[in-house]
Amino acid sequence: MARRKIIAGNWKMNMTPSEAKELVATLKPLVNNPDVDVVYGVPAVDITTVVEAVKGTNVQVAAENMYFEEKGAYTGEIAPAMLVDAGVKYVILGHSERRGYFGETSEDVNKKILKCFEHGLTPIMCCGESLEQREQGITMDWIRMQVKIGFQGVTADQAKTAVIAYEPIWAIGTGKTATADQAEEVCKGIRECIAEMYDTDTAEAIRIQYGGSMKAANCKELLAKPDIDGGLIGGASLKPEFAEIVNYNK
Ligand code: PGA
Repeated sequence: MARRKIIAGNWKMNMTPSEAKELVATLKPLVNNPDVDVVYGVPAVDITTVVEAVKGTNVQVAAENMYFEEKGAYTGEIAPAMLVDAGVKYVILGHSERRGYFGETSEDVNKKILKCFEHGLTPIMCCGESLEQREQGITMDWIRMQVKIGFQGVTADQAKTAVIAYEPIWAIGTGKTATADQAEEVCKGIRECIAEMYDTDTAEAIRIQYGGSMKAANCKELLAKPDIDGGLIGGASLKPEFAEIVNYNK
């Protein structure tokens, strides 16, 4: 069975609730592609507003982070059950900005992924190499490690429903997109890694996105690649251009 494309916006630390409401309203008539799963990854304070604003559409909402404990004395953190109750379906985990600026490790990401599955949330696990790692020729070793640690203890049935976002750090927010061939090479490598960890069925089912300066101008070429099942989009998700990416096959 062909994998459904999944196009997700990652708003990062942008958009107040009022701005979020406006952006969703602007995108509403434009974002309308029955062939694609569409997700808005939004800051925690925007979640309720955006869940309300997308009602009646096929857009789902993602959180940009989540803690791995159930509840309690973790000031400033957000529990899985809070996200579920607020209407969230996906959680972006292990973004390179969280790993880089906030010291998240693959072990943390793993605990969060396991928690997601316990609560019926779908993780979008980010992985990706730095420019230095690419130049050293260790891209695939690094990413295989991120995937292997991130998915420790995840069952095949769970992994089948998960999303992995390959985001080369040097391409994020830089305007410097990986070429479609570079992106495909790593996404294919991730699928092979999943096949080794589980089996071919799981590898064929899991969805792998590319992220890093994806925009209207380059999305068609990237999304035409056999192992690229969607995009995780930062900058271009904050403007009407996002709809052009969602409608990439129109
Ligand atoms: P970008 O961000 O599209 O602005 O490069 C992608 C991401 O970090 O998810």
